[in-house]
Amino acid sequence: MSRGLVFFEKIGLAGVITLNRPEALNALSERLIQDLGNVLDMCEIDPEIHCMVLMGSEKAFAVGADIKEIQSKTYMDAYLEDFITKGWEKISACRKPIIAAVSGYALGGGCEIAMMCDFIIASESAKFGQPEVTIGTIPGAGGTQRLARSVGKSKAMDLCLTGRLMDAQEAERAGLVSRVVPDTQLKEEALKVAQKIASYSLPIVMMIKEAVGRAFETSLSEGLKFERRLFHSTFDLEDQKEGMKAFLEKRSPVFKNR
Ligand code: CAA
Repeated sequence: MSRGLVFFEKIGLAGVITLNRPEALNALSERLIQDLGNVLDMCEIDPEIHCMVLMGSEKAFAVGADIKEIQSKTYMDAYLEDFITKGWEKISACRKPIIAAVSGYALGGGCEIAMMCDFIIASESAKFGQPEVTIGTIPGAGGTQRLARSVGKSKAMDLCLTGRLMDAQEAERAGLVSRVVPDTQLKEEALKVAQKIASYSLPIVMMIKEAVGRAFETSLSEGLKFERRLFHSTFDLEDQKEGMKAFLEKRSPVFKNR
């Protein structure tokens, strides 16, 4: 179903969100970001959705902020409206996992929202880049930070300073992308992965997301303590009792998400 500039489908326990502004290659206008945020809010509160897939079109996942919309902004406009904070941060604030399924261009803010997701599955035609340098600005939605953490300093500097694009194979080698699939199978493969995740206990999946995310926010010793506390808490879940019982009884577990 269409939700403004975003198309939404519920497939099993997965929510598939498709950016749908083809005439501008999914340039991330304020309206598109608002529509995306609304759909994510809806997914977060829907107990029948356990995992989301975020995708664009075959030609473009998203080509970044809408240059036509932002070209004339002044420093004060950007500062006062906190440009690229409101709405954009809904993606990284989601507590349920989001898989970015990237085909075609993921540039500037497009690459940045893919990196806000939990992992990226790319099709063979995917191209990633932070071309802001070529239009007189810098990555503003986390590109310098998340890209550096993801692919290391050298490649992040290379991409941000030259504005060059990186293909799917290079992105996979560099660790930006978790797997590359044929163009025609992107949605199917991403959905398969989402359904797999969604078949597990929702609180466990959410705790794993939180714990892995913490690795990028804190020191190793604090991260290990955080992980240990969450691990201990899993022993209070019915799903832990059921998961281990089912293993010992050589059958599939029936999770209740509690
Ligand atoms: N904003 C607004 N419109 C855009 C756009 C963008 N970022 N990128 C493409 N479009 C529009 C084009 O203006 C064009 O519209 P018209 O038909 O009305 O002219 C339409 O989308 C198709 O684009 P092209 O004709 O350029 O298509 P192409 O196949 O020749 O090239 C491309 C594709 C290489 C992606 C090229 O469009 C491009 O370089 N786009 C800009 C990418 C960019 O610089 N992104 C960074 C934006 S700034 C940012 O994102 C900051 C941040 O950190 C959040």
